[in-house]
Amino acid sequence: MAHRPPARAAASAAALVVLLAGAAAGSFAIGASGTADPPGMAGTIGAHDGDLTAEDVDAIVRHGPWPVAFEPDRSNRASGRPAAVALGRRLFVDTGLARTGTVSCASCHRPELGFTDGRARGVGIEGLDRNTPSLLDARLQHWFGWDGGSDSLWAFNVRPLLDPREMGADAVRVARRVAAEPGLACLYREAFGAPPGAAPADRVLVDAAKALAAFVETLDSGRTVFDDFRDALARGEPPAQAASAAGYPADATRGLRLFVGRGRCNLCHLGPQFSNGEFHDIGRPFMAAPGRPDPGRLGGIRAVLADPLNLLGAHSDDASRATAVRTRHVAATHRNFGEFKVPTLRGLSRTAPYMHDGSLSTLRDVLRHYSELDVDRLHSDGEALLVPLRLTPRETDELLAFLATLSTPSTARGSVAAGSAELPGTVGAADSLGTVGAADSPRTAAGRASGEACPTGP
Ligand code: HEC
Ligand code: HEC
Repeated sequence: MAHRPPARAAASAAALVVLLAGAAAGSFAIGASGTADPPGMAGTIGAHDGDLTAEDVDAIVRHGPWPVAFEPDRSNRASGRPAAVALGRRLFVDTGLARTGTVSCASCHRPELGFTDGRARGVGIEGLDRNTPSLLDARLQHWFGWDGGSDSLWAFNVRPLLDPREMGADAVRVARRVAAEPGLACLYREAFGAPPGAAPADRVLVDAAKALAAFVETLDSGRTVFDDFRDALARGEPPAQAASAAGYPADATRGLRLFVGRGRCNLCHLGPQFSNGEFHDIGRPFMAAPGRPDPGRLGGIRAVLADPLNLLGAHSDDASRATAVRTRHVAATHRNFGEFKVPTLRGLSRTAPYMHDGSLSTLRDVLRHYSELDVDRLHSDGEALLVPLRLTPRETDELLAFLATLSTPSTARGSVAAGSAELPGTVGAADSLGTVGAADSPRTAAGRASGEACPTGP
């Protein structure tokens, strides 16, 4: 467990103790109920949902409501501003920023793959050490990168621009590109109130990263059938009725009960985003290459403290520095070595392969990891959060059925579907986004409208 778990994590850990006490007292039917099903009942709606206890329902309701309302990032004056969103959307697909002219953010963060790339590890100008994470719902995080090496979305965005293996640019190149391309220059002026040529290159680089952040903040994953089920439970509907109204499958309900119960998954994958936003060692290997370990969170803490763009630095637009509380208090200890960020579990159906190094190809492989876990590999000085689960094949299928419901768009009327982004100039991406059935989030739509006065496309 991370050293300073947020209050939310502590509260949920307390809830878990209650849950486990319930299990010990025999109020849980996990495992036993699975075998009691009549043949052919798996997947039917409403079967055995009555098995959810009040404690289960309470734990499930904590994974919402969804979506989480937008709040502007006070450290980024461009956050939530339509002109900045429009500029960020253009920059996101602009290969002209890269040293080689061949790579853009969208090369690795492909909309049709939930803003991932389908590879084990990202490849830009050269290959990277880590898996490309989804950008959907990124606005809800407070540490960025698998190691949390940045404390804001905008500070993170500078890294891929400059990293020689990703886009290999420098401040001067980015500033020149923004000033030279009429559409970008026009949007920059609208977003930041002055032409890019008037500011020093470093400033334009950071502003470009802030506009990219304003755009990434509009990437919401949309409501799922899980959210419909959860909301019905939150309204106090009986589980069987809630499941049938939401179209929530019975095997997924059993998987969900395992998730919040015996599986103890929500010890770390908690809250609406199914992540506590912190860092843990779950016993995955952490070699970036033979003989070269990936230090994970230990390196991330050192990086964020040394970063001139961190929230304590001069580039934050939050004069109060209230947003910098976590940064001020974070400190590295040796146990952070090999810890990685707890990822969201929403939208996983499009984001394989999994884990910080893309070392597991399927969700079945992930569950096998948790089932067969090598406890000797785990940090000896940490709390024993994980035990090998020894899942039966049926339990594995039920957990998979549950995880799938976190990717299945809600069918409720008026619900905003997943992947609600449309990118200019990427025909393939825009096309496949259409098939997701995307409705625009208001911020995305406002961003597009705002760019209308500026010239389009280089
Ligand atoms: C070569 C592939 C590649 C390119 C190009 C790329 N990214 Fe990424 N992105 C990654 C990888 C890999 C990570 C994980 C990095 C890490 O953990 O160190 C990542 C992480 C991120 C994150 C952190 C997400 C999180 O949940 O922590 C953000 C935000 C992000 N990228 C935005 C961008 C933006 C904006 C651009 C363009 C300026 C960009 N990326 C270009 C591969 C890429
Ligand atoms: C101790 C905290 C913790 C617990 C408990 C936990 N996880 Fe995780 N989970 C993590 C971390 C950390 C990672 C990323 C590890 C890495 O990349 O090396 C992860 C990764 C995952 C992933 C891969 C997601 C992706 O995008 O790559 C899935 C799926 C997942 N966990 C599901 C579960 C399930 C199901 C359970 C319960 C059986 C569970 N987790 C229990 C911390 C936890």
